[in-house]
Amino acid sequence: MTSAETAERTAAPFPSAEPTPAGSEWWRTAVIYQIYPRSFADASGDGIGDLPGITAHLDDLQSLGIDAIWLSPFQRSPQKDAGYDVSDYCDVDPLFGTLGDFDDMLAAAHARGIRVIVDLVPNHSSDQHEWFQQALASAPGSAERARYMFRDGKGEHGELPPNNWESVFGGPAWTRVVEADGTSGQWYLHLFDSSQPDFDWSNEEVREEFRRVLRFWLDRGVDGFRVDVAHGLVKAEGLPDYIPNPEAGSMGGEDENVPYWGQDAVHEVYRDWRKILEEYPGDRALAAEAWLPTAERTAEWVRPDEMHQAFNFPYLQTEWDAADLRAVIDLSLRAFPGVGAPSTWVLSNHDVVRHATRLALTAENPQGHGIGPDSPGQPIPEVGLARARAATTLMLALPGSAYLYQGEELGLPEVIDIPGEARQDPTWFRTNGERYGRDGCRVPLPWNADAPAYGFNDSGASWLPQPAEWARLARDAQAGVPGSTLELYRTLLAERRARGLGAGSLEWLDGYGVDAVAFRNGNVTVVANTGSEPAALPSGIVIASSGPVTDVVPADTAVWVVDQV
Ligand code: NOJ
Repeated sequence: MTSAETAERTAAPFPSAEPTPAGSEWWRTAVIYQIYPRSFADASGDGIGDLPGITAHLDDLQSLGIDAIWLSPFQRSPQKDAGYDVSDYCDVDPLFGTLGDFDDMLAAAHARGIRVIVDLVPNHSSDQHEWFQQALASAPGSAERARYMFRDGKGEHGELPPNNWESVFGGPAWTRVVEADGTSGQWYLHLFDSSQPDFDWSNEEVREEFRRVLRFWLDRGVDGFRVDVAHGLVKAEGLPDYIPNPEAGSMGGEDENVPYWGQDAVHEVYRDWRKILEEYPGDRALAAEAWLPTAERTAEWVRPDEMHQAFNFPYLQTEWDAADLRAVIDLSLRAFPGVGAPSTWVLSNHDVVRHATRLALTAENPQGHGIGPDSPGQPIPEVGLARARAATTLMLALPGSAYLYQGEELGLPEVIDIPGEARQDPTWFRTNGERYGRDGCRVPLPWNADAPAYGFNDSGASWLPQPAEWARLARDAQAGVPGSTLELYRTLLAERRARGLGAGSLEWLDGYGVDAVAFRNGNVTVVANTGSEPAALPSGIVIASSGPVTDVVPADTAVWVVDQV
């Protein structure tokens, strides 16, 4: 059955549920929980998570206290980049289930008041996408090739790539094709793996196709999209050479003037999409994955006629240092509200070293490089966990919308010692193991301490090996246990909601020392101590604390205190 037929069978109009009234702009304050489907829960037992697995655990997410879920790709894909290589944008990959399973999951989430955002990957498709296969079979200069970025090579016989761009995953960003007559031919651009050819967004046919894709999922009732590589769709005119800054991280987060990131013309695409979303009821939203050097630059993606949210990667990339944190929070609260958008906050996702590990690294670790047994600056796990809990306690008190990544509510660390033969990230292969890549933050979740694969499924299979010490981090080992990371998250999310902190505002407080981030939001006083000496404890009642407090806030600890009544 083709995806169109499947869609017709199951796509009865399915309106978005209204957990909050229309016009509420729920995305301004929402806590959005990222599900990485292949590692969340596996109902089929094949070792890879799936949509029925998500449906089965929605009660756990509801009791955690989140407002929405974002699903990393589950669309049809050869899985060369864990689903970020899509071969059919309007179908579910059989690994994850069916469109019917998606509809069931969406209905079950909406019934619990949980909004659902899906990933959209517009920068590139899979090389198995029908369009790319047609392009390969067609001649240079054809309409089929014009959907992608094919160019003649340099050199006497076109034997050199058209420019010097490198793939985000390492190695050249160009691959040469063999033409139908067997000769070496043109080159195609792939900012990521060679299995992920870049679309040409100057082509109206590409734009029209993605309008169709947006409508397909909006018609099914999704509440919005997380837009992959939202800073990359449009490339600089003439594709000029570029020397990358290796410190900038694989997505170029700290580099200005990269000819394939952040080009002005990309904003037209999102103005167009915004109009489409506004045709639908229920406050549908677009969230940009755009790695840009500053909050000010990132805010360009959320101007009033563009997207609704952008991930605050400058915040994620800030070290555990009070002065740096105060500065990035200040800038964020000026930049995003400055264009009428909420600030977002995020500490972990499927592309970065989990913050329970990252915040204790003692050496540079550019984004996307990952960490393995030979990496310099190995963390002390207890320090990482204490800082992660404190960092989240700080983050969830900030006004705006916050993103959580599955497993951080359990305090999961990055898995550092995944054997080379088990690693699957294309970064690992494309750099010959020089960069470990992102597998360490993608290990399947532990649900039950005593079950096979810790309850990830019933079979015990797991697409990446789970560490032995994860039994004590399993959800059932933490549920109801005072002081556990899970209970800390539940408390923070319940208090955040009850006290309206997402819609609040921030007033900086002095008097807690240079190593403290101290502010008030509504009736909550927050002190996060990033230093090694204790900080003063505000007077009042402690309603949440990331670690034990006595009459002081110890190092690597954060508290929420309300006035005594
Ligand atoms: C960003 C995604 O988050 C990442 O996982 C993926 O590899 C690249 N985009 C390419 O789609």
